[in-house]
Amino acid sequence: MTDIARFRDFVTDTAHLVAGTTDETTLLAALGPKLRELIAHDDWLPEAYAVTDGSHYRQYLLYADPLDRFSIVSFVWGPGQGTPVHDHRVWGLVGVLRGEELSVSYARQPDGSLRAGAAERLRAGQTAAVSPQIGDIHAISNGLADRSSLSIHVYGGNIGRIRRAVYDAETGAASEFISGYSNDAVPNLWPDRTAA
Ligand code: FE2
Repeated sequence: MTDIARFRDFVTDTAHLVAGTTDETTLLAALGPKLRELIAHDDWLPEAYAVTDGSHYRQYLLYADPLDRFSIVSFVWGPGQGTPVHDHRVWGLVGVLRGEELSVSYARQPDGSLRAGAAERLRAGQTAAVSPQIGDIHAISNGLADRSSLSIHVYGGNIGRIRRAVYDAETGAASEFISGYSNDAVPNLWPDRTAA
């Protein structure tokens, strides 16, 4: 039995925050503690949204705002799995729920190439942010060789529907893509019969 109420509260908090400000810095400063509160407890994510795939990482949509102001996704990384170098075009907040992740940021150089920064290790309970304003190009991979890892991501748009880019890490050449999601159904946030 999972306590989805924890996640439902996070959705409500996020909806209030995006309705209250469009300033990214203000929003991320307020949302960060909410995400850390959510990922401090690993008792709420329904198992269907934590299933690994043998060959490729999974991205399960957990909630999409009907006005496309935000979306929440669980990323599940099997051993050895990771993303290509990519961007987001909107703000994003990453929080590790299980295991560890390695994140490498890339900076665009004047000649169009990309320069990789140092790999940053995010452990369970920790968060990191991306955005066009603060640095939007990165690659994420499972930080553990022998186990799967799982992170909860919040984005300032419906990330699975946004046209964005993956990059050749050597040349910096961009290819457009739209990621979509791995699932067809989202979690029921009101599974019990408790009255409002
Ligand atoms: Fe990303």
